[in-house]
Amino acid sequence: MASEYSPGLQGVVAAVSGISDIDVERSVLTYRGYDVHVLAEQASFEEVAFLVLNGELPNRDQLANFCAAIAEGRCVPAAVYDALRSFPKEAHPMDILRAGVSLLALHDPDRTDHSAEANMRKAIRLIGQIGALVPNGYRIVVQGEPPVQPDSSISHAGNILYMLTGQRPDPLAEHVINGSLILYMEHGLNASTFASRVVVSTLSDLYSGTIAAIGALKGPLHGGANEAAMELLLDVGTPDRAREYIREALAAKKKVMGFGHREYKHSDSRAGVMKEFGKRVCEQKGDWKWFEIAEAIEQEMWEAKKLFPNLDFPSAWTYYLLGLPIPLYTPLFAASRTVGWSAHMIEQLSANRIIRPTSLYNGPAPREFVPLSDR
Ligand code: COA
Repeated sequence: MASEYSPGLQGVVAAVSGISDIDVERSVLTYRGYDVHVLAEQASFEEVAFLVLNGELPNRDQLANFCAAIAEGRCVPAAVYDALRSFPKEAHPMDILRAGVSLLALHDPDRTDHSAEANMRKAIRLIGQIGALVPNGYRIVVQGEPPVQPDSSISHAGNILYMLTGQRPDPLAEHVINGSLILYMEHGLNASTFASRVVVSTLSDLYSGTIAAIGALKGPLHGGANEAAMELLLDVGTPDRAREYIREALAAKKKVMGFGHREYKHSDSRAGVMKEFGKRVCEQKGDWKWFEIAEAIEQEMWEAKKLFPNLDFPSAWTYYLLGLPIPLYTPLFAASRTVGWSAHMIEQLSANRIIRPTSLYNGPAPREFVPLSDR
């Protein structure tokens, strides 16, 4: 059954999913029926991760058990951290993460068990492990520092900050990172999630799907956009340079990172929430420089092309204000999207059929083979 070719698979329905829904007209995103705006402001990363994986919000006991399992996952095997010490110092944290997850797969106690129960255990373990691997991978490889042991009395978002800095996190920073991780957690059949579903549809394993997803997320048209957006903001440098800079970039047919979206047509439902988080950080720091540059760029992009910022744009300057190293922006996205990837891989396996689309052939017509001696 052949259907029409759609470049970039735009508009192609490739799965039936009950995890999240994008209402394009109203620019509303829901996870399992709950508005992500409300979740980002009022819930913890752990509660929302439970919801995305299991379909319902946890009660107190369920949440306590879930948090304990994530905390266990954060205790990454020492052998994995030891292996990281041989990585080149210049390695990008997304490459460190991709390689680190491959190492974690070798140490997983459920590595030979592909049952649904084992997959859920692996998913929860991966959330904890990646939450530790992102900050500690950066410490070990890039900074040449020893890893910081996680603290189970601190939230998952707070632990990421704690392991990065070795300091107990500031409450506003913890709240903002918690909210941003919730906003990043899940987004339908985006490129990395699709990649993860393709991998497990062959009956490969959750780790392999996660590694493929990390590879897909790294690109600047997807998750890599938050780092690229910060480079853009730094390049623009002052609000009054925004107009000329953006006009030149658009005239040169360059993509302005952090703008546009395949699904949304009017605005990205998540960007407004993230901007509000960012404004609270500006207020706390008494520093509105990056907000003002971002506003000037947004205005130009809207006037010139009717393009709106996506989540990566306000995340970029907010993370910058919080003092996070730029190469960690996409790994932070990965640490959160691990939840969405896992939920999708588990959903895929619950009603699996191998994902194997087809292509239109435009190569040479059949021809005779010419032996090497005659070429
Ligand atoms: N900067 C400049 N122009 C953009 C743009 C951007 N960020 N996003 C889209 N456009 C323009 C395209 O050039 C194209 O214009 P044209 O019709 O005049 O040729 C039109 O808008 C459609 O864009 P297209 O790239 O075909 O849309 P897509 O659905 O294939 O791609 C994205 C979606 C997200 C990959 C794209 O908007 C993009 O590259 N954005 C920047 C990267 C980014 O922020 N990614 C994170 C997404 S959450």
